Amino acid sequence: MAASDRLIAAARTVRERAVADFSGFKVGAALETVAGDIVTGCNIENASYGLTVCAERVAIFKAISEGHRAFRRMVVVADTSSPTPPCGACRQIMWEFCGDIEVILVNMTAVTATLQMKDLLPLPFDRHLL
Ligand code: THU
Repeated sequence: MAASDRLIAAARTVRERAVADFSGFKVGAALETVAGDIVTGCNIENASYGLTVCAERVAIFKAISEGHRAFRRMVVVADTSSPTPPCGACRQIMWEFCGDIEVILVNMTAVTATLQMKDLLPLPFDRHLL
């Protein structure tokens, strides 16, 4: 299986673990490190709604807590025919911890878009401005 197929499969598998009781909108993310490891995340909702954490941030925070600091690309999966791009909060975290990675958006059967982080978050605020 090609590396990108493995990453996509991992994202689709973790999506099934999403806790999306309120929106019904399950998302999975699979983050590939430069060493080729895969760290996954799913969205986790709760009764407060506002404390929901998106799949992308779960994957990044898991990866960092496990000691990974350099990343190559991320797959994000949702069951939508048009691409489901990361929300604004996730774009900030993705930029700060992953830099200009490739972001591959997929649904249950196909790749719907492939983007670079620099295009998803033009003119970012980050540590270089501090
Ligand atoms: N969500 C993600 O996990 N990632 C995205 O890229 C878009 C939105 C989640 C948050 C919430 O649990 C649900 O999808 C609906 O917004």
